[in-house]
Amino acid sequence: MTLKKWLTGSVWAASLLLATAASATTFKVAIGDAAGGTQYELGKAFAEQLKEKSGGSMTADLFPNSQLGDEQDTINDAAMGLLDFSILAINNITPFSPSVAVLTLPYVIQSVEDAKILTQGDVGKELTENTIRDAGVRIIGWSYSGFRVLTNSKRPVRTLDDLKGLIIRVPKNELMIASYNAWGVNPTPMAWNETFTALQQGVVDGQDNPYMTISAMKFDEVQKYITPIRYLFSLEPLVMSEQVFQAQTPEVQAWILAAGQAATEHSYEYIQATEERIKQELQAAGMEIVEPANNEQEWIEAATTKVWPAFYDSIGGKERLDAILATLNR
Ligand code: MLT
Repeated sequence: MTLKKWLTGSVWAASLLLATAASATTFKVAIGDAAGGTQYELGKAFAEQLKEKSGGSMTADLFPNSQLGDEQDTINDAAMGLLDFSILAINNITPFSPSVAVLTLPYVIQSVEDAKILTQGDVGKELTENTIRDAGVRIIGWSYSGFRVLTNSKRPVRTLDDLKGLIIRVPKNELMIASYNAWGVNPTPMAWNETFTALQQGVVDGQDNPYMTISAMKFDEVQKYITPIRYLFSLEPLVMSEQVFQAQTPEVQAWILAAGQAATEHSYEYIQATEERIKQELQAAGMEIVEPANNEQEWIEAATTKVWPAFYDSIGGKERLDAILATLNR
């Protein structure tokens, strides 16, 4: 090869590289939890799928541990188009889009299969439309994180009597506050990114979150007792700024949606393959699991009779809850 030919070839290759780099898009994904939990797993799967589906022209950088702000703040940022994606607990979306509360009504979701039916069927589609309308974000994928179990640093809790007097942190979510009120406790609403420090410093005695989250956030270092209540199955969606979504070409939108669906399927497999091991690791680290007395009956009774009726209006009426329960064959 002549020098001239070689130079021409090299210049051509270099300009192709530059053009690709210039046209490659890197999205930012805020993640509330630390790396290692179900939120991060969903984000990783999404980023891999997006890269693959777009032939490498689209990538996503993950920012775990609330680096880009508290979960509820990321919704505002995404709504304004200042942030591309966020992965956060469903309960932190409800304040912006009240109908999402159907997924956080206590004891409605009773298994990971129920969670899948609701999120991947008509209910999920409708909620996606509602979050676009109310909150300016589009649900692209779901992580399935397991039931939120109660933890505290003071004593084993089996009954509602045991719970009395404990200071429990909850997200700033009316439904969760109402659940604890129904159980005879006045909980402390607090942002997620302040929770570890508050537990560590004894500002609060306890909180609830899934095993996967307790482990990712290292709560075993500051909490001792676990009561595996099953009032909320934690769903943690990947949401995208609707402004940013609408600014993409139809081809890119299709890649994003397909990557979100594939990541959702991965999350469904992941929780089932991982949760039991994580639970055992938490016990090995010194946490003590105490089952709620009498199959949790008094917890269920109080929450469903006192909390459900108070939220019929925000979820679109009692008929809506009845329809959802019918979808779950109940
Ligand atoms: C919360 O308790 O605020 C959330 O469930 C935290 C999370 O996103 O894991």
